[in-house]
Amino acid sequence: MDLSAIRHLVTEQTAAFLAAGEHRLLIDNEWVPALSGATFETINPATEEVAGRVAFAGPADVDRAVQSARRALDDGPWGRMTPAQRQNLMLRLADLVDANAQTLAELESIDNGKSVALAKAVDMTLVAEFFRYMAGWATKIEGSTIDASVPFIPGAKFMTYTRREPVGVVAAVVPWNFPLLVASWKLGPALAAGCTVVLKPAEQTPLTALYLGRLILEAGFPPGVVNIVTGDGPSTGAPLVAHPGINKVSFTGSTEVGKRIGHASIDNMTRFTLELGGKSPVIVLDDCDPATAAQGAANAIFFNQGQVCCAGSRLYIHKKQFDRVVGDVAKIADGMRLGPGLDPQAQINPLVSREQMQRVCDYIQIGLEQGATAVAGGGRGEGTGYYVKPTVLVDVSNDHRVAREEIFGPVLVAMPYDDLDEVARQANDTPYGLGASIWSNDLTRVHRLIPKLQAGSVWVNSHAMLDASVPFGGYKQSGIGRDMGRAALDAYLETKAVWIAL
Ligand code: NAI
Ligand code: MG
Repeated sequence: MDLSAIRHLVTEQTAAFLAAGEHRLLIDNEWVPALSGATFETINPATEEVAGRVAFAGPADVDRAVQSARRALDDGPWGRMTPAQRQNLMLRLADLVDANAQTLAELESIDNGKSVALAKAVDMTLVAEFFRYMAGWATKIEGSTIDASVPFIPGAKFMTYTRREPVGVVAAVVPWNFPLLVASWKLGPALAAGCTVVLKPAEQTPLTALYLGRLILEAGFPPGVVNIVTGDGPSTGAPLVAHPGINKVSFTGSTEVGKRIGHASIDNMTRFTLELGGKSPVIVLDDCDPATAAQGAANAIFFNQGQVCCAGSRLYIHKKQFDRVVGDVAKIADGMRLGPGLDPQAQINPLVSREQMQRVCDYIQIGLEQGATAVAGGGRGEGTGYYVKPTVLVDVSNDHRVAREEIFGPVLVAMPYDDLDEVARQANDTPYGLGASIWSNDLTRVHRLIPKLQAGSVWVNSHAMLDASVPFGGYKQSGIGRDMGRAALDAYLETKAVWIAL
């Protein structure tokens, strides 16, 4: 990359990291090249230039990483550490994330395209707070004592209790839309539970995971606790999740790949949790102020350029208010300024890759061909960079592909409805079930609607709120299991029942 063009826009640490040359794999606390010597390029979506050259891990590298994680668990100091020692290492890591938040946000922007300001305020703040939240759980993992009856041995007495033990070596396979944030959702509960990890970042966005690797070393984690293998799905991700040395896979990404990972996991009886795609409805009841609804709906779809698994990509508006709300959303969309993530004035940044830009533009085209009308946007932004204009489609019905399939870009479909039962039916008429929002102050109708919605999160008068303490995950084809909250920790623990005859 021609660093001179951006050097004045980024911290010295960011420039130094980018200038360092080839980024290597982290295995056993050593930075190593791929055994094959292969590398791949990661691209800056704003400039379409190479932002870094990264080691391309193949099956042999994956195997080394899994073995290193196994040794750390079975023989290394990690397995012997007290919960409080694990907690303290995680708290140190959280402090290092805070201290490096600007650099991490810049790298995230250069790799993914997203706004530096938002990456710092949202992604990096959540990463640090999530590590702290999960650090707290390390010392609060408890089993129970059970007074067992054993009816088939009269007079028998047993002392019975359960132990919660780390599930083992975790494969964390993460996507490119919130690269470091989603990585933290896997690392946090794994480390709190006492597991070791092989992390595979997305091929589009490996840089922040690698920078985090430096911080993991600086925090003092012993060798092998966290290993980072960069590469693509077929050559790196697939051998990792199918490796017999892996005890649990935690995946976030497409439903298609999630299903494949589920199948591969079952062969080894590897535990798995999957956080997958979505097509989340935004439901505006007729008592809602139209301007509030429009701004809420725009934020729900355009944040992170719509590359959000729980993006509010279907907007249902009562027919009385349809024209007004859609008109306002279209006005907001038309007024958004396109620009690189390093520009604090820009409101819509480039999508992650040329492929994703093309995919989103293809969907807009499919929508138009099936009869939709674009009242805002409608295609690619001008000039260099993978920009798609914020787009609002009307004249769409629930059976159109743009209303059914995950587009993962700044594209909203808006549809009218008549009554509450009808909108609940429409909202649920999708294979997905990740999130939903309701916009209304009518408590009775809101509370009637909440139980009807098949979604892992329901937000009222907000959308896509996330916190370390609140479980997040999908109904239906949006996944299995939960990230965050106490529920996430359980997925990284086994339960051992202990019987002592007295
Ligand atoms: P993807 O699901 O292929 O990639 C996610 C991660 O899985 C990446 O790290 C990738 O290298 C890895 N992967 C791919 N194939 C694998 C395999 N066979 N075994 C193990 N790991 C594998 O998603 P992709 O292709 O980047 O995006 C396609 C679509 O998926 C997007 O347009 C979007 O609709 C959806 N998606 C949803 C996400 C979410 O947060 N729910 C995140 C990313 C993509
Ligand atoms: Mg893919």
